[in-house]
Amino acid sequence: MPTLHWIGKDKVVNHHHDVPFHILDKKYSFPTDLSGFENLTGLNKIIHGDNLLALKALLPEYEGKIKCIYIDPPYNTGNENWVYNDNVNHPQIKKWLGQVVGREAEDLTRHDKWLCMMYPRLKLLHKLLADDGAIFISIDDNEVSHLRLIMDEVFGSGNFRNHIIIKRGTKSVQAQFDSIDKLGIACEHLVCYSKNISYKLPQFYFDLEEAKEGTWNNHWRGTDRPTMRYEIFGITPEEGQWRWGKQRSEIAIENYKKCENDIKNKNRVVNQKNIDDWYLLNAIEKEIDLLRLSKNNKPEHYIAPTDKKFGHNLWTDLMVNGTSEYNKYSEIKFDNPKNSKIIERIFKWVGGKSDIILDSFAGSGTTAHAVINLNKADGGNRKFILVEMEDYAENITAERVRRVGGEFDFYELGLPLFEEDGNLNEKVPTEKIREYIYFMETKALPNMGEAGYFLGKHSETAYYFYYEKESQTNLDYDFLSTIKIKAEQYVIYADNCLLTKAYMLEKHIIFKKIPRDISKL
Ligand SMILES: C[S@@+](CC[C@H](N)C(=O)[O-])C[C@H]1O[C@@H](n2cnc3c(N)ncnc32)[C@H](O)[C@@H]1O
Repeated sequence: MPTLHWIGKDKVVNHHHDVPFHILDKKYSFPTDLSGFENLTGLNKIIHGDNLLALKALLPEYEGKIKCIYIDPPYNTGNENWVYNDNVNHPQIKKWLGQVVGREAEDLTRHDKWLCMMYPRLKLLHKLLADDGAIFISIDDNEVSHLRLIMDEVFGSGNFRNHIIIKRGTKSVQAQFDSIDKLGIACEHLVCYSKNISYKLPQFYFDLEEAKEGTWNNHWRGTDRPTMRYEIFGITPEEGQWRWGKQRSEIAIENYKKCENDIKNKNRVVNQKNIDDWYLLNAIEKEIDLLRLSKNNKPEHYIAPTDKKFGHNLWTDLMVNGTSEYNKYSEIKFDNPKNSKIIERIFKWVGGKSDIILDSFAGSGTTAHAVINLNKADGGNRKFILVEMEDYAENITAERVRRVGGEFDFYELGLPLFEEDGNLNEKVPTEKIREYIYFMETKALPNMGEAGYFLGKHSETAYYFYYEKESQTNLDYDFLSTIKIKAEQYVIYADNCLLTKAYMLEKHIIFKKIPRDISKL
């Protein structure tokens, strides 16, 4: 498979493993914080912070659970006047590049920088995506070819699904010149990859603005199949064929007779409108066929009325830009918010009604708006997780979600779980470390009410975190005598173990050392 190389690549390909694990620090809930403590049950989240750290922090709870990811990363146009950092020159990203890529970072072109920024984030997004999930990425000509190549690398080229074209407004400045550098750009791209090659996308239809009434199609066609030449309505074709096999045609003729009789029995005229009404009432679910003789004595079969049209990758019925919609909900300028209809179309197409949807380049929060719109329209219960690095995460992103009626918890990136020397960060509340360990061990959330060193019981294993900030803890007979929970196996974290191997084997006790075995989780 062809692969892309750029300056700094070797430093970032495995960087996602080294990204420190930070806790997420809940600041408030909207509408109000009734519970008083962290709600871990998967409510909507808006996280303020660099998505590299935020995505890593989401891993314990959400690895493999996100059904649909939509991201709209910086396009890297080189235009620094945008509200957000379009060309990866944000001080935080620059600092990060300096640390990760080192001195080489000084020589990077803007494309190298963009790739260094994107690669580890895509790796983490890949981990978060469910096996039956899909990721959609908005991008324009500046980075689309690079993006496709690194997506092939991170997600696998076999998981490439579509490159969708969306319309964007064109500028007519070029009209004054006789010769031009290139054609005006009238489209952007939406690139879609799945997590698994075996994943099947649901069928996709465009909604028609106006429903089309039923029509009739000639039942004969020219392809030569003698076995499909049989008698209906006293006609047997001498060449060509009927569209369907004999049995299907005969059933369709009976269906039409029934349809006609039903309409006549209601003292109605057999016209197209009444046939359509009959079909929508009686046959749409079963998708039955109808076949009749036309006024010109030619057999014809029915094409049902529809408000949908078979879809494809040209989504030029949608404009990329969603400024007018955004302006309804904010007085603060935000350049180039996306049209929420694009994002609604994606989620309606690929997702279920209770999916968790992630956008780690949230901007003005269009993804949350789309989720809220869609839930209102179809009664769904989709959840969103947004990450935004800029300080406007509060007064633009969260504010828009508030104004469109969304509920969410707002988080800041909290402290790292480990110090640089590998020890547990003593400033992190013990409760957070307990949650982390229990979740990483069991993929379940600890019982908030559990006191002392007991974390919880899962699949007949009892978990203990014997930890004191100020002193060393020893797993010994004294500690064991405090254990009241009956389980088939015990996993106990402590600083040291004073029990013999034979005793632990006999009592089904597994010792895990703090912090070594936590950092391995
Ligand atoms: C193109 S905008 C997204 C616009 C959004 N789709 C909308 O409709 O409003 C990209 C956003 O990603 C944010 N961003 C860039 N790098 C980031 C990072 N490392 N972590 C989190 N957010 C980041 C930018 O601040 C910007 O708001």
